[in-house]
Amino acid sequence: MPHEKTDTDTAKCPMSLGEVDLFEPGAQNFWYESYKILHRESPVHKIPGEGTSPDTDGFILSKYEDIAFVVKDILRFPPPVMKNTDLEKAGVSGFNAEKENIDKEKLPASSVVSRHDPSLMNAFQVSIQSLRPNEELWKAHKRQLTDPWVGPGAYRHEEMVTEATNKLIDNWIDKDKFDFVSEFAMPLPQIVMANIIGFPLEDIPFHKKWGDAMVMPFVYGKGHRNLLTKDQSDEQQVLLKDFGNYVIDQLEEKKKNPKEDMLSFLLDVTYEPFDRKLTDTEIIGVAYAMIIGGLETTQYAIAHQAVMLIDDPDLYVDLDKNREKINAFVEESLRVKAPTQGLSTRMTTQDEVFQGVKVPKGSILHLRYGAANVDPDTFECPHEIDLDRKALTRHLTFSQGHRTCPGNGISRLEQNIAWNCLMDRIEKFEYTTETKIEYQSGIMLGTLELLLNFSKK
Ligand code: HEM
Repeated sequence: MPHEKTDTDTAKCPMSLGEVDLFEPGAQNFWYESYKILHRESPVHKIPGEGTSPDTDGFILSKYEDIAFVVKDILRFPPPVMKNTDLEKAGVSGFNAEKENIDKEKLPASSVVSRHDPSLMNAFQVSIQSLRPNEELWKAHKRQLTDPWVGPGAYRHEEMVTEATNKLIDNWIDKDKFDFVSEFAMPLPQIVMANIIGFPLEDIPFHKKWGDAMVMPFVYGKGHRNLLTKDQSDEQQVLLKDFGNYVIDQLEEKKKNPKEDMLSFLLDVTYEPFDRKLTDTEIIGVAYAMIIGGLETTQYAIAHQAVMLIDDPDLYVDLDKNREKINAFVEESLRVKAPTQGLSTRMTTQDEVFQGVKVPKGSILHLRYGAANVDPDTFECPHEIDLDRKALTRHLTFSQGHRTCPGNGISRLEQNIAWNCLMDRIEKFEYTTETKIEYQSGIMLGTLELLLNFSKK
């Protein structure tokens, strides 16, 4: 099923390098065509004047070997820092804007946020600065605080995720048609993350509102740096105003009645590297990261999988009969349609050369994970789902190295359980006559709605 363009989309299918623009409205519809041109003609593609300051540049990296190299060295390629003065002149606010009081020594492993965000994003920033200012602490933070919940330890949520999945299916199993996105792929990660963090399920509409506000730069932000205007940034802060207070309220409740959840754990844990408890601000920072990372990404992955399986009904039948292949399908679908297509989350600290192209110190690297995953020099028949492909988890959808997505364990678990439960109960999914597939605007690759018919088993 082709993807529909919306009225505001200006992009058309690029026929030459000069027509490639990954960031214009509607570009999502042609990203994979653009990648073919970039791989062939400009694998290190300069975006003039869009580096850390107006006299530096951005560079889109699209080759697997380059991105895999960059993400594994967090000291040589730290998160970018943009000068406040330059942003001010441009009237914009970036996710990576400079904060005056940042300790420059600690920059390599930190992520720097906008000065327009006095409260919430600062909690995230503070938690990064205080808990994991360097590579060793970054590893310790992941190992001790997030791995047991959303990383390798996520398997402990198997029963909860299965129950949540089946309850969602119960809600539409007796209908003729339903929206796979709003009635399944979207609520599943919302319920799962609320259960893991320990937020009441009835508050999910608020989590969704805050999650949407958190990802505003990735949906409405301009260019590869996801820059919001000052007005948009202020609007974001208004929307997010209540999240910090909400987490504080939840923490107070957990102090009185601790439960088997992540918030109670974070309140109780002695952070090994410092031999001390976490502050409330640090805990808010961790909760913020779980919400911003844990909702839409997994939603988009599950929705892409539905489209792929409807487009290839024999694959659905094969997976249904051979459930042990579902995991390979999940990995291949993540590779072929990465929800997080690209992020400008690294800069150069020295002059570099990629694919023979000089990239000066102070450039911002836009890591195009989606393109690297279909790099023909790394993956044979890169656009095909091949369940027998060697090293299935080699893709860059969750990145790699120490900064690899900490939530990959829970996301993979959700996707596997989703398809196992769906195949237990559904014989076949089909598009309806009204099905229109439109992509979410911005930097993510996600389907907004997916109306489906289905036959029950
Ligand atoms: C299909 C689903 C997902 C995709 C494609 C995805 C992708 C990514 C990518 C590409 C990064 C950047 C890594 C880097 O800079 O090298 C990242 C970071 C992150 N992800 Fe995910 N993610 C997904 C699901 C999740 C989930 C379920 C959670 C939470 C439970 C999560 C939490 C985070 C956090 C907190 C970070 C920031 C890590 C840090 O810098 O501390 N993600 N993710």
